[in-house]
Amino acid sequence: MIDIHSHILYGVDDGPKTLERSLEMLDYAQKDKITTLFATSHFKPGLESDFSARYEELKPRAAERGIELILGTEIDYVHLATTRPLLTLGGSKFILVDMRQPYLEMSCSHVLYQLSLDGYTVIIAHPERLFMSPDLKIVHELAEMDCFFQLNASSIVGRHGGQAQHIAFSIIKAGLAHYVGSDAHSPRRNFAMSEARDLVNKKFGGEVTELLFEVNAQQLLKNEAPYLVTPPKRKWYQIFKR
Ligand SMILES: [Fe+2]
Repeated sequence: MIDIHSHILYGVDDGPKTLERSLEMLDYAQKDKITTLFATSHFKPGLESDFSARYEELKPRAAERGIELILGTEIDYVHLATTRPLLTLGGSKFILVDMRQPYLEMSCSHVLYQLSLDGYTVIIAHPERLFMSPDLKIVHELAEMDCFFQLNASSIVGRHGGQAQHIAFSIIKAGLAHYVGSDAHSPRRNFAMSEARDLVNKKFGGEVTELLFEVNAQQLLKNEAPYLVTPPKRKWYQIFKR
């Protein structure tokens, strides 16, 4: 499995504080059957060299556990207009963006347009935790602006409550989900990718599961856009099944 969102690097954000905690997280990732893991610490200007140093330190430790570690970052919306170049996911054109609700009260379309002119493609992290309206209005608007979406495994399994879980499933049903990542921050707040994968498989079937947990992330590694993930329509006699 490929996890495109984690805070595995220690001492650079609200993820693990020590090398030992990072290694403990790698043990969990291995148990969770993750084979490729993106290190996407919260971006702060000036921290790029610290990210690289921690990444180089952890890369062989991940390899010992059969995990390929790839460097990226999670960029808060406030940095998108002013920072260039942006640290992308594994040197691709894709950037992982944390777009919190207050910023959407300002128009973000010009920022997103400028990003596309500069050659970046936006993946919005955990929309199910940010845009809680059941009609998915903002998610639809951002999709119109060519954004892709990464759901958190922890939301899918219900760790952030029933509403975030419900919105996550609605986003999948609407055909607007493209990737699932863990957003793991610590051994306690860990990956849950296998558990989420089993649940998605049960609810939406094997094809959707493969695309969300593997194939679209492979596309990303090739610097290609994700495939559209369209769950099969339910038959009338399946409507009352959960
Ligand atoms: Fe994150």
